[in-house]
Amino acid sequence: MNSAIAANHQLAGKRVLLTGATGGIGRAVARRLAAAGASVLFVARQPAELLLLSQQLPGTHSCFSADLTATEELKALADFVKATGGIDVLINNAGTSQFALTAEQDYAAQMSLNLLAPMQLCQLLLPELSQRTAATIVNIGSAFGSIGYPGFSGYCASKFGLRGFTEALKREVSSKALRVLYFAPRATQTAINSAAVVAMNQELGNAMDKPDDVAAELMQQLQTGQSRWYIGWPEKFFVRLNALLPELVDRAIGGKRAVIRTYAAGSTDSVQIQNNLSNSAEKITATRS
Ligand SMILES: NC(=O)c1ccc[n+]([C@@H]2O[C@H](COP(=O)([O-])OP(=O)(O)OC[C@H]3O[C@@H](n4cnc5c(N)ncnc54)[C@H](OP(=O)(O)O)[C@@H]3O)[C@@H](O)[C@H]2O)c1
Repeated sequence: MNSAIAANHQLAGKRVLLTGATGGIGRAVARRLAAAGASVLFVARQPAELLLLSQQLPGTHSCFSADLTATEELKALADFVKATGGIDVLINNAGTSQFALTAEQDYAAQMSLNLLAPMQLCQLLLPELSQRTAATIVNIGSAFGSIGYPGFSGYCASKFGLRGFTEALKREVSSKALRVLYFAPRATQTAINSAAVVAMNQELGNAMDKPDDVAAELMQQLQTGQSRWYIGWPEKFFVRLNALLPELVDRAIGGKRAVIRTYAAGSTDSVQIQNNLSNSAEKITATRS
């Protein structure tokens, strides 16, 4: 029998690498993976948080603390995976977002974690994943990976990029034995969203999902192997409409632009970045004087 046809993508007994494991969506996914009988390698920067998470869940799990924006730490993670028996599933979930007008955006931080890190981790682990009889890569994107939204220019660019990368990778390497999936939540109730984002969503009537509902949908995608998975109405509709008739979405979002700009201009994300910039300016001034 062809081994590819016999590929077993069930999670029980599989080893899963989950980045961003200590975040809102990450924790919910971690709980569901553990409940499904997977052995999870949790990855984030804070070792104490990782240890606590692994101790709270049933089953045997491990932790690796790494800043995924640092290439040498990505390589160390890949070496650790290889030295400890490999993985069957890679979930690139770690992410960051900044809600701010373009002049105040920190593009490097968002591109580095949301786009470059998952690309490089796929590249580093692909030889290992390709040897498995049943392996899966899931890249966690966003509705904003298909719809450009004011105040999120850096985030949208990074998630559009991740969607493009995932599609190209899928078309290059996927088979029955190696699945490459893209999963796109809409706004979700986690710490990635500042108070300004939450207030704006409330005023505009944008739904914000619970992390556990998002995790349940991810489990469904892992079970079915559906390549592209979007969450929620009307977001699913707008994703398709934006692909076919973007000028209609220009108009729909244009009607909300004044409200969005007001929140983005006063957002704590903007204030934080402004503080960072002025701190850097002070450091540069201090170094030069
Ligand atoms: N929440 C939403 O509204 C929403 C909507 C659509 C898509 N998403 C996507 O869903 C994914 C998870 O988001 P979330 O809402 O759960 O975010 P979150 O609660 O802010 O969690 C982010 C996670 O990433 C880790 N992380 C941050 N910077 C890192 C770095 N440099 N290196 C390694 N790990 C790092 C954090 O842990 P440490 O700080 O300890 O490193 C944490 O575990 C992201 O890809 C996000 O873009 C979220």
